[in-house]
Formats: sequence, structure tokens, C-alpha cells
Amino acid sequence: MSDTTKINDVITLERAGQVGLVCIDNPPVNASGQAVRQGLVDAVAAANADEGIEVIAIYAAGRTFVAGADIKEFGKPPLEPSLPDTIAAIEASEKPVVVAPHGTALGGGLEICMGAHARVGVKGLRVGLPEVNLGLLPGASGTQRGPRLMGMKHTLDMALSGRQVPGEEALSFGLLDGLEAGEPRDVALDAARNVLDGKLKTRRTSELDAEMDEAALDDARAMVAKKMKHHPTALNCIEAVKMSTGPFDKGMAYERQSFVDGLQDPASQGMRHAFFAERAVSKIPEGKATPRPVEKIGVIGGGTMGSGIATAALSAGLAVRMIEVAQDGLDRGIGAITKNLDGAVKRGKMSEAKRDEAMARFEPSLNMEDLGDVDLVIEAVFEDMGVKKDIFGKLDTICKPGAVLASNTSYLDVNEIASATNRPEDVIGLHFFSPANIMRLLEVVVADKTAPEVVATGFALAKKMKKVGVRAGVCDGFIGNRILAYYSKTAGYLVEDGASPQQVDDALENFGFAMGPFKVGDLAGLDIGWANRKRMAPNRPAEERYVRIHDKICEEGMFGRKTGKGFYIYDDEGIRPNPRALEIIDEERAAKGITPKSFTDDEIIERYMTAMISEAARVVEEGIALRPIDVDAVFLFGYGFPRFRGGPLHYADTIGAKELVARIERFAQDDAYYWKVPAILRRMAEDGTTFADLNKEG
Ligand code: 3HC
Repeated sequence: MSDTTKINDVITLERAGQVGLVCIDNPPVNASGQAVRQGLVDAVAAANADEGIEVIAIYAAGRTFVAGADIKEFGKPPLEPSLPDTIAAIEASEKPVVVAPHGTALGGGLEICMGAHARVGVKGLRVGLPEVNLGLLPGASGTQRGPRLMGMKHTLDMALSGRQVPGEEALSFGLLDGLEAGEPRDVALDAARNVLDGKLKTRRTSELDAEMDEAALDDARAMVAKKMKHHPTALNCIEAVKMSTGPFDKGMAYERQSFVDGLQDPASQGMRHAFFAERAVSKIPEGKATPRPVEKIGVIGGGTMGSGIATAALSAGLAVRMIEVAQDGLDRGIGAITKNLDGAVKRGKMSEAKRDEAMARFEPSLNMEDLGDVDLVIEAVFEDMGVKKDIFGKLDTICKPGAVLASNTSYLDVNEIASATNRPEDVIGLHFFSPANIMRLLEVVVADKTAPEVVATGFALAKKMKKVGVRAGVCDGFIGNRILAYYSKTAGYLVEDGASPQQVDDALENFGFAMGPFKVGDLAGLDIGWANRKRMAPNRPAEERYVRIHDKICEEGMFGRKTGKGFYIYDDEGIRPNPRALEIIDEERAAKGITPKSFTDDEIIERYMTAMISEAARVVEEGIALRPIDVDAVFLFGYGFPRFRGGPLHYADTIGAKELVARIERFAQDDAYYWKVPAILRRMAEDGTTFADLNKEG
């Protein structure tokens, strides 16, 4: 017989013989908010006071054990009991406490486990310390109990990478005492009975000794210096781990202070914004529509994009039929997909068996008629409206009723593409980013007549492919490429006015971008932008300031990395500025009568970022993006925007609308055509609101 007491809304204590089973039930992910913390403290106290209970076993209901501290409480006044105090109360229990986590035990959730006297995971468990992804270090004893249980090396690895470690691996290095198959409650109960029988040893982690591991500390410091220089608490994390060989309370105090300081740091705020951005973008007006089932997709085009999309779809468990017009194109597509999947196997992202299964679901074909039975088609041929309309006209006659007809166009008008069919409600833009098997962004471009369930299908597909779907309206370049096209011009203006390409790149890399715009241009191929500019030339407004430097470099056959020369030279000696490119810059300045000015790095960042923010603001104003946070997600997941800055419009809030308006007005004195204050920004400057306020309005 068992009886259950409700401790509070999220915690129950069940008496099962001599075992007190404490269940955490706080959907969706059992985050350790105030009620969970208070409930755990009270449940452990109640179990200690109950004479019939000899062992306490903690487990959780639902899809996962505790996914960490409740991030929504961050930045608000702290609510007692704190998580470190809660865990201390668990560890101080007179009666032994075991824990049986399932699903994921992350951050504070794993720290709760560390505070128990023994840990038996449920098979399938993954554990991690992902605080690092929020700009934080573990703040509830992970840096102190972690090394005492599993050593400094594993603690540093987990706390600095944030990776989810499979239960088997955690067992191998002592973080877990066991790993059993079964329901969490059963595993918890068995673990408690094993304690009663003396088969499972219990101990208080804080009473164990941690071993000094200088090599692990040195490696971690070197890694942080190289890869995490903007991280606000990474060095504190290493220092805290080092302190674990000393008194427990001293290490805890240091960890706590670093965590609290980290919470205030703008970099942590940016990273927390990025966490919510990834999730907020799935909240769309079509959210209630039922997605159409998608198991088999067609991909038209075996080029880089088509192959990347096919790889992503195959990896997500979908069947793919790829169409090309000629055998050599098809062979190239097959080769690229094979290479992508083999690469995933080599990097340990996919097993050989899964790769073979994926390839078995792949059917190349030269005949578009073969698309009759697919649930969704993605057209990924070159950007030519005539060609695309022709393809969509054919798809209209070939595809079964209800099939979703998608274009991967980067900037063309999806309404016009849809008009080539008699079923515009089934047509949508699914804009992937190259390499499509790696980049997480997927712009879901909604045309005027796209049906809500087709939009929902696009988002369901994004989720299945583990991508971040962002809803975009129709305009030239949608959200990302439209903003990119605008602010890229600033880099050219800066160079023509006196900065060097390297100075611009260095300033933006120090700001946090992985690569500055001139290095990116060289990498992508300068000829691509050149072709695009030639195409757009007839529509270019006469008032627009046009920088010819890139075109002149291309005219000399220098297309960037692929030709060994562009803004930089690429050869055995490494990368260095290309003297010929610098000469061209000088020639252009002279031809336009520009006397070069000097810019500070801050001025470069100011202009570049203000340009990005102004166009982003217009994209929100026009409803191309649903909310500012959608623009942030596009840049975080598709354009390498530094995560710790949260995205262009989160960053804009750190500057403030008033200052941004003042900047634009100042820049407009030199170029009133390019620099215009977006109406939305002016309104915000007047009424003191922020982009964050617009996010709340949804
Ligand atoms: N706090 C508050 N809300 C959380 C949360 C958390 N720790 N973790 C997830 N959520 C919310 C999400 O925002 C989402 O809300 P929504 O439905 O309103 O958008 C909902 O829970 C479901 O989350 P996902 O969509 O991410 O669900 P998945 O099933 O895809 O993933 C997960 C589950 C792997 C647990 C994933 O949610 C995750 O990685 N969570 C964050 C884990 C984390 O960062 N923990 C560390 C927190 S910091 C900490 O613990 C500090 C401590 O050391 C003191």
C-alpha cells in the first residue's frame, strides 16, 4: 500500500514501504522554480520527520527530469529558498537521498542530482551543464560538487562546452552510480531499495575531496583565451573549479558571486535573449493550423543548395526524391549528398547504420513526373523568375492534390511564383541557408494566398530538420538578405572614405562576428555579388552612392579565396591584405575626389551596426518580420551574429532609440539618401519604448 501527500502544486511525497518517493511535476520541463525548490525542501523535511520512511528517492514526472533553474526568474528579485540552499537541504538530510533522473538533467537539475547521496539514471538520460550557453557558470554547486564526483577535467569539459553527455558516459566517469531501464518511479524505488539492502552506497558529495588537475585547468584556460574571449563567466568557472580542492563553503561563495555577477552582465542577457529567440519564433498566427503530413519530399536541383537540403531531409528521416535535368548534374548531387553524410559520420554526428538508412531513402531521378507522390517539393534551381515559374507550372500538373510546393528562392517574389499555379494556397517559400545541412535558419516565406496549414507544415518541417523556422513576409531578400543588402553598403562606404578592409574586418571581429564582411565576401566569392549588382544596375536609383571598388577588383579576375586573391591574398604564407586591392581603393578615392579620413574601431562599429538596425527596424515596421525577436533569430542562426549580443534588435535596445535616431541624423548630414530614420525608431525615441516592448506585444 502506498499513500501520497501533496507537498505543494508541483511536489508530492509518496510513502512506498520504507521509501519516501518525492515526485517533481512542473511541466513542461520541470524547471526548478520557487515552488519546486520550496517543495523539495519541505518534502525532504517531511520524509525525515516520518518514522516509517528510511530512504528518500527523488524522480520527476513528464518528459524530462529538471531542465535547470527557471530561466524566467532570472533578472527578477530572488525568491527563497535559493537553489544552492535547496540542494544543501537535500544533502543535509539525515536519511539517505537517491535520485533517478530521466530524459535530461541539465544545469540546476544536474546540480540537484549532485546533491543527492546517490544517482541512478534512467536509460536514455543525458546530463549537462548548459549554463555556459546563457553566459553563466553553474550556480548551484556544479563547480564544487562536480569535481568532487567526476574530477576537474570532466567538470570543465561539461561546464565550458554545455554539451549533453549520454548517461553511459556519465556513468563511466563517476557522475552516475548506475543506469537502469524502466519508468522513473520504478528506477527510483529500486535504487532506494538497493540502498536499504546495502547494494548501493550513499555519500555526501560536499564531504568528498576533489583532486587538483593543473593540466585540465591549463587546457581550459587556453581554450577560453582562444574561443571564448567574450564569455562573461568562463574564467570564473575555471577559477571556481580550481577552488574545489579547498573548503567547500569558500568555493560555493565564489561560484555564487560569479553567477550573480554573470546574471547582470549584458553578454549573459544577450545569450538568454538568444535562448528565448530560438523558441519564440515558433509562435506564429498560423500556430493552431494542423500541418500536412510530410514523409516524402522532392528536391528540384542537385547543386550546393539542393544537395544540402536533401542531406538535411535525409538526416531527419525523410525520403527524398531529387530531380535534375541532366545525368552529370544528378551525379554531382549524389556525390555531394554522399560526401555530406560521410562527413557527418566522420564527425561522429551520425552512425554508419543511420547513414546507410538515409541513403536507402534517397532516389535520384531525371524525370520531374516522378514527383507525383511526394508530400512536399522544394525547388532549388538558380534565381531566374522565368525558370521558376515554368517549374511551378509543371509541378501544378504533376503533384498530387495537397502537396506543398515550396521555393528556396533567396529574394524573388513568392506571390509571382505562386501565380504560375492554380493552387497558390499550396505555395510557400522555404529559404534555407548554405550549407543547408548545417545552418540552422529556415525562413518560412508566407505569400498572400498561402494557406495556414501550409505555413504550419513549413514550421513542422523546420522542427523535424532541427532548424529554427522564422516566419517572413514577401519582399526582396525577405528578412535576412534584405537587411544584409542594406548594411553591406556601409562597409564599402567606410573603405571608400578612408578605412582599410582589414580595419573594418578587425573591428567587427572584435565586436564578436566570426568574420568581417570583406573576409566573408572573399569566402563567398566576390563574383556572386558582382553578378547581382549587374542584374540590379538598371533599377539602381540615381541618388544612391555607389562604390565601385568590388566591381573593379572583380574586373581584374580577383574573386576572393577561389582565385587566391580578393581583398586579401590567400596562399601558403597565409592571409594578408592584397596590395592591388588597396591600390584600387586609392584609385577610386582619387577618382571621386575623396580625401581619406581615419575612423576609430568604435566609429566603424557604430556605422555598420546602426545601418543593420535601421533596416531591421523597417523590416519589423512593414510586418516582414512578425516581431523584433524574429529578426534577432534570423541573424543569430543564419548570419553568424554574435550570440552574446543577442541579435541586432536586442543590441539596439542596449543603445537606445534616442541615441540611434541621433546617430542616423548625424550620418544623414553626409548622405541623406542612405541614412533615413525609420518611423518606428523615431516613435520609440519619443515614447521611450524598446524593441523588447514590441516583443511582449507579440
Ligand atoms: N527555464 C524556464 N523555461 C524553460 C527552461 C528553463 N530552464 N527550459 C526550457 N524552458 C521552456 C522553453 O522556453 C519552452 O517554453 P515555451 O513552450 O513557452 O516556448 C518550454 O520550456 C519547452 O522547451 P523546449 O521547446 O526547449 O523543449 P524541448 O523538449 O525541445 O527541449 C530541453 C527540452 C532540452 C530541456 C531544453 O528546453 C533546454 O535545453 N532547456 C534549457 C536548459 C538550460 O539551459 N538549463 C540551465 C538553466 S541555468 C541553471 O540551471 C542555473 C543553475 O546552475 C543555478
